Amino acid sequence: MKIISTKEILLYFTFLLSITLFAQNKSDRELILIDKDWRFSLGHLYDTQKDFGHAEGYFSYLAKTGFGDGPAAPGFDDRAWRKLDLPHDWAVEQSFSEKASFSHGFKTAGKGFPEKSIGWYRKKITIAQSDQGKIISLKFDGVFRNSKVFFNGHFLGTEESGYNGFEYDVTAYVNYGGENTIVVRADASMEEGWFYEGAGIYRHVYLQKTNPLYVIQNGTYVTSEIKNDTAEVTAEVTIENKGNYKGNIEIVQTIFDASGKDISNTVENAAAPDFYKTAKYTSKIKVRNPLLWDLDTPNLYRLLTEIKQEGKVIDSYETNFGIRTIKFDPENGFFLNGKSVKLKGTNNHQDHAGIGTALPDELQYYRIKKLKEMGSNAYRCSHNPPTPELLDACDKLGMLVIDETRLMGINDYHLNDLKRLIERDRNHPSIFCWSVGNEEWNIEGGIVGERITNIMQGFSKSIDPTRPVTVGISSGFKSGISSVVEIMGYNYIGNGDIDAHRNEFKNQPGMGTEEGSTFATRGIYFTDDAKHYQSAYDKKPRPTFYSIEEGWKFYASRPYLAGMFIWTGFDYRGEPTPYGWPSVTSYFGMMDVCGFPKDNVFYLKSWWKNEPVLHLLPHWNWSGMEGKEIDVWAYSNCDEVELFLNKKSLGKKKMEQYGHLEWKVKYEPGTLEAIGYKNGKKILTEVQKTTGNPETIKLSLDQESPSKATVSVITVEVMDKNGLHVSTANNEITFSIKGGKILGVGNGDPTSLEKDQFLDDINLVPITNFEEKKNVSGDNANQSALNDEKDWKEAFKDRDYKNQASAYIYRGRFELKNNLQSNIVDFFYKKIGANESVFVNGNLINASTDDPQKYHLDKAVLKEGTNVISIRASPLQKIKDWDVMNTDPGIIRIITPSQPWKRKLFNGYAQIIIQKGENENAAEVILSASAKGLRAGNSLKLN
Ligand code: GAL
Repeated sequence: MKIISTKEILLYFTFLLSITLFAQNKSDRELILIDKDWRFSLGHLYDTQKDFGHAEGYFSYLAKTGFGDGPAAPGFDDRAWRKLDLPHDWAVEQSFSEKASFSHGFKTAGKGFPEKSIGWYRKKITIAQSDQGKIISLKFDGVFRNSKVFFNGHFLGTEESGYNGFEYDVTAYVNYGGENTIVVRADASMEEGWFYEGAGIYRHVYLQKTNPLYVIQNGTYVTSEIKNDTAEVTAEVTIENKGNYKGNIEIVQTIFDASGKDISNTVENAAAPDFYKTAKYTSKIKVRNPLLWDLDTPNLYRLLTEIKQEGKVIDSYETNFGIRTIKFDPENGFFLNGKSVKLKGTNNHQDHAGIGTALPDELQYYRIKKLKEMGSNAYRCSHNPPTPELLDACDKLGMLVIDETRLMGINDYHLNDLKRLIERDRNHPSIFCWSVGNEEWNIEGGIVGERITNIMQGFSKSIDPTRPVTVGISSGFKSGISSVVEIMGYNYIGNGDIDAHRNEFKNQPGMGTEEGSTFATRGIYFTDDAKHYQSAYDKKPRPTFYSIEEGWKFYASRPYLAGMFIWTGFDYRGEPTPYGWPSVTSYFGMMDVCGFPKDNVFYLKSWWKNEPVLHLLPHWNWSGMEGKEIDVWAYSNCDEVELFLNKKSLGKKKMEQYGHLEWKVKYEPGTLEAIGYKNGKKILTEVQKTTGNPETIKLSLDQESPSKATVSVITVEVMDKNGLHVSTANNEITFSIKGGKILGVGNGDPTSLEKDQFLDDINLVPITNFEEKKNVSGDNANQSALNDEKDWKEAFKDRDYKNQASAYIYRGRFELKNNLQSNIVDFFYKKIGANESVFVNGNLINASTDDPQKYHLDKAVLKEGTNVISIRASPLQKIKDWDVMNTDPGIIRIITPSQPWKRKLFNGYAQIIIQKGENENAAEVILSASAKGLRAGNSLKLN
């Protein structure tokens, strides 16, 4: 079996990159990742004042184009806002509360938190003069959710779903050769799912430049047919003409193999589409002796589509694809490249420990590799379109995918989302099935479900006839959706009679789209409801649900069922069934939220993988339980397993296929040892040893990450004096990092309410009761006017701009909850006048050297409670009558630096996700850890 190595993946990336650069140099197309250097602030759901005055204008951005106001206006002052890089999830940064959403893991953001449900993002970019004539667009992979995007104050559109990719053409609004402002307002006040969904721009954003005659977004569709030794590749491309060119174009389509060799191409001549029209062109290209995309050898090809106009390449567009065949058979299940493949699948949501839904690309690879290590070969994107990088990881690592749309229905909201999903994803060889719905309880058993399914199914086929369609169904498997869906998706054996359904619908293939929903806490072996602990022995979770073993035995023994998808591969935030607060993550995962395996992983590995496996549970640290019986289980695919306690045999047992072995063992400390036999020969040994107390912290890189990777996952554990991992340790570990940054920490404890991220707290405090009076003295140093209580009136009220005084004194108040030594307090002045002098509590403050409109406020001039800020300035003059004069003096920003990063171990483990410094040549990253009473152990160096 060939496992693709990280090195190979890296080589592949480097190859793709060099080809991309090469190709891009030749055409006008540029795709620039613009994840870095955004400004962010929370706004407010309905209090427009707290939403920075957005949409308060007499003419709104919907009334007059370019009238984006508040933060949507290009000139808005965002200096006090936080700087951050995407991907970003503001929900994961928040604390937990019992009042928050069960579905979203009790994070205090979104639904029910109007002050934490709106996120504003702003970014400035320069677009060169030389880009005139190109089509400039913004490309978003996904924003949660209901995003509005503005460009230089122009409203571009709203994208409701948090799972769709979308693109806006901004060409008409560009300021060439100067600054341009991108603004996104995300509104996470509604939930689309019943699971954690994050909040904000949690996927990538790109700036795209192309020739006006160009391949549209997701504009290629590559399919192939294999006949004898040759694959005939059909490459359909959709071109749009947003320019004035009339005449012929050449469409050159070239296929490259994984080594970068150009193996086949075609040239077509055609008329360019008319202005603002699109046209489809199809080329047939032959690939001899194709290397098929398969689970163990995920061979990929690359199609380069070039458009030539008068001999010059004006656009080039890349499509990765694979050549493979898929087939469902109602008798014999699923076939990949003509070979029967039992689907060993998992369902997964898209969040991870510490970072919520804002996963760097490396984490997608990390997670898919973990699933492959368990023996899984299939992934269901429950219950929404995934980020494109997840699909890239599945293509490159060899993982089959069910790609699922979010909501069933037949109107534009539903069908357009489905269309975009299929058009975006249909070139991924990993995808073998579209899912158009999941457990739609209201309709699944009846005629409405049947009608909707018929339409969504036919609609899918009209966009991609090469893949079948499924729906995950839960309430009875008899009528409604289940009588018409192409591939029956059984959600749980307990929800109906699967064999009876199959006997009635003999031509309908089927698979278990969900099975399991078992409960387990990693490293816990006694259920304790008071502590919200679920023992990790595989067990029936609820009367009508089945254990993983029962589920697999059912599916493995029925050839007509293509396989099953376990609910779930990884734990996720939200749905903390069977408990609830203060549990904040699910218990369903085969792995916890970090990807640390629970014992079920080894059950699956035994029967899903083709390699010898022997695993013993539980751990052997049961001080206080001496003499009491403990259940000892072995997961293995050996023929027989013999168990020893302190060298004494406790018996050899025969392993039943798809089973496990059990012993009752009276606890005594020492060594529990299992020996696995195959054909009578000892082939494996596994031990669980009683350990001493934790002594040393150990940091290690989880998985070899490619040296170019900027994000790494680090495992934190503690060892006893003999270097043994202490699986019961719960020490709190503090981290420090040099040369990089920490993105998040986790430990897989469903009840942990510890912080996921340690970020500086930024508080923007408004200046209130803003008053003014005319200043006659004209002397900056004369402070007496500040103290004089007479003649103050509301600032700017009824100001006669034609007859202004030569100078004004303004004063306002701001509140400080505390005046901590560590706080960093700054006043960001917004021009209300010229030659200003700023005083706080009577002290004259100097402007910063880096920004003349920023005033650093030292702790010595501040006090806890109400502070008074005074500004003396000569007024600004109105040039035109209709000029709107600024009356906002600015904002006070208080930064409270975060505590050091820390996390408790949970049953022996914690995880820390780190990111290297900005540029490739950045110095090495050094991560160190410390804890009370423990030796620091190693620092981890990453180059
Ligand atoms: C299913 C549902 C999943 C998840 C699971 C928990 O009914 O499709 O999304 O909620 O139950 O058991």
